[in-house]
Amino acid sequence: PFRVGVLTGGGDCPGLNAVIRAVTKSLLSQCNAEVVGIREGFRGLIEGDTELLESPDVSGILTRGGTILGASNKANPFDYYASGGADVSARTLKTYERLNLDALVAIGGDGTMSIAHRLQKLGMNIVGVPKTIDNDLMGTDRTFGFDTAVHVATEAMDRIHTTAQSHHRVMIVETMGRYAGWIALHAGVASGADIILIPELPYNVDEVIRVCQEREEGGRQFTIISIAEGAKPEGGSFTVSQRVEESHDPLRLGGVGKALAEQIKPHIESEVRTTILGHMQRGGTPTAYDRTLSTAFGAHAAELVAEGTFGVMVARQEGRFTQIPLEEVADETRTVPRNAPLIAAGVAMDTSFGVTDL
Ligand code: F6P
Repeated sequence: PFRVGVLTGGGDCPGLNAVIRAVTKSLLSQCNAEVVGIREGFRGLIEGDTELLESPDVSGILTRGGTILGASNKANPFDYYASGGADVSARTLKTYERLNLDALVAIGGDGTMSIAHRLQKLGMNIVGVPKTIDNDLMGTDRTFGFDTAVHVATEAMDRIHTTAQSHHRVMIVETMGRYAGWIALHAGVASGADIILIPELPYNVDEVIRVCQEREEGGRQFTIISIAEGAKPEGGSFTVSQRVEESHDPLRLGGVGKALAEQIKPHIESEVRTTILGHMQRGGTPTAYDRTLSTAFGAHAAELVAEGTFGVMVARQEGRFTQIPLEEVADETRTVPRNAPLIAAGVAMDTSFGVTDL
């Protein structure tokens, strides 16, 4: 039989199960394929740790967070942690052949797509599906998981708003987003944050202080700051923010918002508090939008597998479903452009981005 593997690479993300379900159901019904679930991302492909996915296995998982296959953000066939960082790609290819796989659907973010591109060049037939709450994959206007993360962050900021108003505080809310500020920007605009700080626009600390002071003087005795975990001040970066780039240190989340709080505290009268949203943005049930996007992505991936189109990632561009070559996604990041409509909206509404050149 036609055998197709499916794996979820990198960290978890709302909508992963919806994609697994759509891929499996489409392949079972349309090509009578055998669908092989690969456990814990590329670890399962390297080790041959798999399970056959039948219809009942994917029934009832549409709304569930996480991934029924398990996640591993460490397993890379070109740098395998369990073999002391060795390149085990040849072994991975052998496992793929031993499992009699005709194709592989790799659901993941930038790391997964880069690995998928390299494995494709070694001879595997791969279709990628773009996952990340950060929305920063090249070639697609949307990744699944982003909408859910924005909803969670927006709800959190709405709640922070009322407590900030009651206590006349400056409240800093740190969102995820290492390299791109999509979550901080969208949740910030959606919740009416007064200052939005994203990695793409290094901010001026004095400007942030000035906005807080002006609001205090004008009788607006609270300020909401939406800051992405990868945001940096102009002309340099916090040491904690460098750690964001460099390590897998779990303490890195929370560094940026707290560092900003320390910088502005001496200059303003109001008390300052920081809330780190962290992995809350990644867990739990996907929004309706993410469920439908994941389902459509999964069905499209299955269609490409069935017609034998490989070496691509499914994508959404200008309201259409399409696919783009993996090589255009590998090692790239889609950051927020300076002329993004939401930035313009924020500027028009007098939201400060803490930069001097906007
Ligand atoms: O890439 C998605 C993401 O949620 C980032 O925004 C965040 O920096 C990172 O994953 C955290 O990953 P983990 O804690 O799983 O290493």
